[in-house]
Amino acid sequence: MEEHFYSRLGKALRPGVIARVVLAAFERAKRGEKLISLTGGSYDPESLPVREVEEVIRDIPPEDWRDILQYGSNLGSGKLRAELAKFSGEAGIEADPEGEIIVTTGSQQALDLISRVFLDPGDLVVVGEPTYLQALASFRLYGAEIETTPIDEEGMNIDALEEKLKDLRAEGRRVKLLYTVPSYQNPTGTVMTEHRRRRLLELAAEYDFLIVEDNPYGYISFEGSMPKPIKAYDKEGRVIYLSTFSKIVSPGLRIGWAIGRRGFIEKMALAKMNADICSDGLSQYVAAELLRRGLVHKLIDRIRRVYREKRDLMLESMELHFPEEAEWREPKGGLFLWVEMPIGFDADALLDDALRRGVAYIPGSNFFTDPSVRNYLRLNYSYPSREEIAEGIGILGELFREALKH
Ligand SMILES: Cc1ncc(COP(=O)(O)O)c(C=O)c1O
Repeated sequence: MEEHFYSRLGKALRPGVIARVVLAAFERAKRGEKLISLTGGSYDPESLPVREVEEVIRDIPPEDWRDILQYGSNLGSGKLRAELAKFSGEAGIEADPEGEIIVTTGSQQALDLISRVFLDPGDLVVVGEPTYLQALASFRLYGAEIETTPIDEEGMNIDALEEKLKDLRAEGRRVKLLYTVPSYQNPTGTVMTEHRRRRLLELAAEYDFLIVEDNPYGYISFEGSMPKPIKAYDKEGRVIYLSTFSKIVSPGLRIGWAIGRRGFIEKMALAKMNADICSDGLSQYVAAELLRRGLVHKLIDRIRRVYREKRDLMLESMELHFPEEAEWREPKGGLFLWVEMPIGFDADALLDDALRRGVAYIPGSNFFTDPSVRNYLRLNYSYPSREEIAEGIGILGELFREALKH
């Protein structure tokens, strides 16, 4: 009955596969059954910085509480922006905290603000495929048309991109934004090479588009330090850089940030006024203090070790249990394992069986613009316990072997 009340935008909002899986988990929990979730990119529950955050909050002096409990700047707290400028500076990104950084409610809000500020219906956005589904959802909600270029083992394939850009130009179509997750990409775990990062910037200048560099996973590197962000090579100000505390500190604090040229950040701040006026005062205070006390680096070191060990465990279990037709690459960072099955395998159809047996994964079709690609799946190793990883992979292995026999 309510359908005719919805706006075009409201009608376009539909629950995705993650919502479905979460619902299934609730249903099972109600019945007293458990579900091993190898789905979203949640933080390892045992490693959440409970003690560190408690200490910061306990130490808050009364005069600071008065700021925390008041409305704040739509750019974010000055103290946090200054800390974030230092933190990003260590990755080679120079940013003036007064005007070139905005604090957002997770980087998902930055994607939403970017869509509002830059995209008109019909505007062209290019993404590497497969890609993060909620970024696509954001761009599409505001009417953008999506074009894709493939991701290979060196990240976004830049030669294919150049061909695509030439074709689009020949058709008289202009690309406005390019969205990329260059380091430990979601879902494939790949890293874009330095050569490709530089080449991408050259193409952006030649074809006059902006690059949205989304970097939630760069800090979760298992071998050495974070790959240098594209923003660190950006002399022209074509890159809007996004990062977040969600994978390195806590997703519940909802602290993300965007760095870009002054005019862009100013527009995003105006859009943020409409969205939520300003980010949460207590979260921003905690985030600034964790940075100031040097605790974020410690948390990053800790979580890297935990995820590396969990990745190894998942890889070992897969070697043991998965059918030999399954293929995957060892991710050198990030939270996910991307698995390729033979053509004809249907990860979407098998999900219900997997849920019935008590394990959830994300079918790969959710990361493609063409949902008929059904022979991939994404597995998460950050959230499940070690026991759940071993058990869940065992169950999936059996299910997939059975499915391939038919
Ligand atoms: C590529 C990518 N961008 C953005 C986000 C959103 O993160 P946040 O919690 O900071 O909103 C995620 C979350 O998983 C992600 O994978």
